[in-house]
Amino acid sequence: MPVLVASELFFGNLSRRQNELQIVCSKSETYKNRHHLRDDLMYKYEKDVMPDSIDGNAVNVSIGVDLLRIIDMDNQILTLDTVITEIWQADNLKWRPGHVGGLEEIRLPSDLIWKPDLALADGAGKTVFIKSEDTNVIINSSGFVSWYPPVKTKTFCSYGELQNGDEIECHLTLYSWTHSTSTLDLKLQADEMDTSNLDVDFNPHWKLVSTHADVKHKVYSCCPESYAQASFTFRLRYVA
Ligand SMILES: *[C@@H]1O[C@H](CO)[C@@H](O)[C@H](O)[C@H]1NC(C)=O
Ligand SMILES: *[C@@H]1O[C@H](CO)[C@@H](O)[C@H](O)[C@H]1NC(C)=O
Repeated sequence: MPVLVASELFFGNLSRRQNELQIVCSKSETYKNRHHLRDDLMYKYEKDVMPDSIDGNAVNVSIGVDLLRIIDMDNQILTLDTVITEIWQADNLKWRPGHVGGLEEIRLPSDLIWKPDLALADGAGKTVFIKSEDTNVIINSSGFVSWYPPVKTKTFCSYGELQNGDEIECHLTLYSWTHSTSTLDLKLQADEMDTSNLDVDFNPHWKLVSTHADVKHKVYSCCPESYAQASFTFRLRYVA
């Protein structure tokens, strides 16, 4: 959208022919740079192989949950529209902007690159893996990858007979399916969910009261390593 707007403003007064020429010239330079950068980044890139972190420690995946809509509550199963936000830094996706015409960012289809194997324990009898091959990732020249897959979550919320004004608490828990904290750790982008995009009028029966988030490092009896779990907790008020 911004690209269209910019080119309309910029080329608005030119004749159609000049217009076409300008677009061809200006586009080809950045296209060439982006093409070159994509080829460089993807040269011998293996998306099945986890990247090294920048400092040789675990890859820190910084996560957040952007709550968009409270869809419905059916038999204690809450359905939400969310965007899971994930940012991490990969040693094999860095470049020098000067070598590619100053490009500092590139957007590529997310199925081209390695992504953390995060799962959502929804408590509703089903594990949901965070994947959305249709979305782009944004990569910057320091190797930071930002990925914002939209996810419809289902969460079990326990409650009894509901009266108008009752509050209940629900959780969304995210964790890596295979990595212990020696290779992948979770960090929070904020100590609560992002509710700035919440459509508060969408569901007349459930109002968000508060949210908070924390990361726990769990040790299981099987293994010495610890595993990171990010929990997003939120309170809802029932409006009859
Ligand atoms: C990940 O976070 C830990 C501290 O929590 C830090 O020591 C480590 O350097 C970080 N790793 C990277 C690659 O930033
Ligand atoms: C890349 O993104 C990270 C995380 O958002 C940011 O801290 C860093 O400054 C960015 N680097 C560049 C060169 O834009």
